Amino acid sequence: MQIIHTITELNQSLANQKNIGLVPTMGNLHAGHIRLATTAKEQSDCVVVSIFVNPLQFGANEDLASYPRTLDVDSKKLETAGVDIVFAPSEGELYPTPQTMTIAPPPIAYELCGASRSGHFSGVATVVLKLFNIVRPNIAVFGKKDFQQLFIIRQLVSQFNLPIEIIAGDTMREEDGLAMSSRNGYLNAAERLEAQRLYRALSLVVDAAKKKKLDLREIELQTTQYLTQLGWIVDYISIRSAKTLLPPAADDQNLVALGAARLGKTRLIDNIEFDLVS
Ligand code: PAF
Repeated sequence: MQIIHTITELNQSLANQKNIGLVPTMGNLHAGHIRLATTAKEQSDCVVVSIFVNPLQFGANEDLASYPRTLDVDSKKLETAGVDIVFAPSEGELYPTPQTMTIAPPPIAYELCGASRSGHFSGVATVVLKLFNIVRPNIAVFGKKDFQQLFIIRQLVSQFNLPIEIIAGDTMREEDGLAMSSRNGYLNAAERLEAQRLYRALSLVVDAAKKKKLDLREIELQTTQYLTQLGWIVDYISIRSAKTLLPPAADDQNLVALGAARLGKTRLIDNIEFDLVS
């Protein structure tokens, strides 16, 4: 496995590759990321995993400075998983001049996570487009845990006619249901015990929505109150169409329950897709 830090060297290594799979990451990898890499491996001949903590997608009060940078440990995991290339550029390599042109994402990027992280998806879409242009992959794999990110990247690919197939990887969970995330490492012992409640709350949301006894807005409000009483700072609990991410129309059957909430200093997100069978 090669560990490459410059675009020139990456171009040389990829020159004769015809079927490239890309897994963009910010590092501090867990089993969910490794699963994305093995998915890419099944569907391409050469797998590139990028590791870059992208300053453009962090707000002023977010965790850019403290985000764990663990390239050595990450590289060992990726080598074991059969990855061909780790692309770990410096900030100066990816942004040699200030990035004054950025992607303006669609309106949905300012709802859900975007409501409290206004520039976040512009930063994500911009760096992902740059990585696509640098690596020129045939496929790219993104996790469903970041459901809204996945939706926006699919829009990026379709609206800019990018010749890349986007593959969605299922969320991997700890034994108690907590979605695997690089940010779980920020939780202290008591918070870690409590953290699984976000998934459980979303499971209750799904059950309640399927029973159709309460309207969806009421379910969202009651779940927000429930988590708030237990000490969570809830950004949102929302039931949306899984296809459009908009509030569901009356005949929408494929839905997704999404949530984002803070435990202490740690912001956790999760989601569950479900069908409303009538
Ligand atoms: O999901 C992430 O880790 C990041 O948002 C991504 C897609 C690597 C872009 O920086």
